[in-house]
Amino acid sequence: MSLSVQEVNEAKAKALAEIGAAESAAKVEELRIKYISRNGLVPEFMKFMKDVAPADKPAMGVALNALRTEITDALTSRKSELASSGARHGAFDFSLPGNWPRAGAMHPVSSVIEETARIFGQLGFTVADGPDIETEFNNFDALNTAAHHPSRDPADTFWLEDGRLLRTQTSAVQIRVMQSRKPPVRIINPGRCYRRDTIDATHAANFHQIEGLYVDYTPVSLADLKSTLAHFAREMMGPGVKVRFRPHFFPFTEPSVEVDFSCHMCKGAGCRVCKQSGWIEIAGAGMVDPRVYKKIGYDEDLHGYAFGMGVERIAMIKHGITDLRLLYTNDLRYLQQFA
Ligand code: DAH
Repeated sequence: MSLSVQEVNEAKAKALAEIGAAESAAKVEELRIKYISRNGLVPEFMKFMKDVAPADKPAMGVALNALRTEITDALTSRKSELASSGARHGAFDFSLPGNWPRAGAMHPVSSVIEETARIFGQLGFTVADGPDIETEFNNFDALNTAAHHPSRDPADTFWLEDGRLLRTQTSAVQIRVMQSRKPPVRIINPGRCYRRDTIDATHAANFHQIEGLYVDYTPVSLADLKSTLAHFAREMMGPGVKVRFRPHFFPFTEPSVEVDFSCHMCKGAGCRVCKQSGWIEIAGAGMVDPRVYKKIGYDEDLHGYAFGMGVERIAMIKHGITDLRLLYTNDLRYLQQFA
């Protein structure tokens, strides 16, 4: 048996053509076994080397070397070609990371509203509704606000051309509810409010309040208001929260208070969120002024309390949000952490 350089080169051409035409990784593997495995064609050819005439050895050596390296290279490159074109043509790659659909979650403002409705719901309060566009009567007059009160100023309130306005407080809903229902009345009303405030870390021109109103024939006292709001604070912020009532003035309540919660972030020690005071103002409240009952035709002997809380304020101390604007830039990377 002998082997010529020409036969080697012909075998090489045939092998390279077969490899080039292989359409699957399995076929490439089959050809690898056929040509370069221990019993394959290339080692088989190598055995002839010892029988080659000394003069022909160099040429045969070159041909056999070329046979081995070219076939080996062709197998490797065909294999990777098939792998990448497979991916291009949509073959499923099980090693890729999963594509997880994101679960939706509630915005912190919405979840404070929902939680508040739950807490007051357990105390017998139902949720009332009112429009964002209000009459001057509901937003100011019926709430016993003086004709020249500065809050009516166009620099503070968004007025519409027809004399109506974007409500500056959810207190307007108190009027709607009392005009449409007989006592006892026990409602909360979450909603948007609008003021011409300069926007900064703690002020927005559009924000949310939750109004509360309880009016009854039986005595309702400031102590009831205090215990109700203290209960709410503990349910919302946890048992460690402290509640502080400061005397204040509102035209539609007498007496009136402002209500502070101890800062949830620093537990009252003072931090950036509470501006180092340890307290955050959350609500205005008080006993409904009989003048309000009179304006809307309720019996002036009724007893009731009302309160109005800032929703963003609650969300901020609950979550340690230092800038109210972060709630409204709709950056999911930020909001997601409260889900
Ligand atoms: N509406 C008031 C405000 O926006 C807050 C308020 C104070 C609401 C006293 C009340 C209340 O119901 O009784 O500043």
